[in-house]
Amino acid sequence: MNRPLVIGNWKMNLDYVEAVHLIQQIGVIVRNRPLEHVDLVVAPPFVDIRSVTSVVESERIALEVGAQHASVHDAGAHTGEVSVPMLQRLNVKWILVGHSERRAHYAMTDEVVAQTLRTVTRQGVHAVLCVGEELAVRNDEGHLDFVSAQLHAALEGLDEKSRPLVSVAYEPVWAIGTGLTASTEQVRDMTEHIRTVLASLSLEATRVLYGGSVNAENAASLMSEGRVDGFLVGGASLKAESFLAIGQAADDCYAGKR
Ligand code: PGA
Repeated sequence: MNRPLVIGNWKMNLDYVEAVHLIQQIGVIVRNRPLEHVDLVVAPPFVDIRSVTSVVESERIALEVGAQHASVHDAGAHTGEVSVPMLQRLNVKWILVGHSERRAHYAMTDEVVAQTLRTVTRQGVHAVLCVGEELAVRNDEGHLDFVSAQLHAALEGLDEKSRPLVSVAYEPVWAIGTGLTASTEQVRDMTEHIRTVLASLSLEATRVLYGGSVNAENAASLMSEGRVDGFLVGGASLKAESFLAIGQAADDCYAGKR
């Protein structure tokens, strides 16, 4: 089993004052109950990143800061976009690539996902590639093929130096923000499938996370029975207690306590 990775995706929530408040609360809990075996990451909105990293650094909170998206381009006439080098200057170590909300609402095609992933890893930043099917695809039993195609499109031909910087998050679209979590069997079947595809692409050491209505109650069973290497957490990452309860569940599972 890989060392777990737990990422909080704050999405378009919390202004910078609220973000500072949340990261301070997270800091207090992490200091009292350190997670020994988990890599913890928070991904705030762009405009909050500077404030959040300042608190993380000054209070030496044991986590890293990520971003929810980055431009495929390094610089230039791309109004409204934010580049990987800009994020790197803010000490961002992780970037989500191809979240289903970006794919569905901001025209992020498989091709743009693939190029963005390369833009991220070329700079030495960790890329978390998000994949997952819509409900209609699962109902037609096309989910395994659909996710294979997303993985191939994004990862085929990735250079050797970039490979250790990649993680994959399986997020079935129908489970995101809906309160409908995939069952542990569904997660296990898909993560096994993803690992087979990753092995065929020389990415066997890659961490495979699950995301989609993860909470403090379901995290332990998703981890142990679903056999994931961690979580991408949306709604439950907006409260320090629930986010860190998920981190604690991952920590306990890794240590063999659950
Ligand atoms: P959710 O979001 O935990 O609120 O379902 C997960 C995600 O979109 O990353």
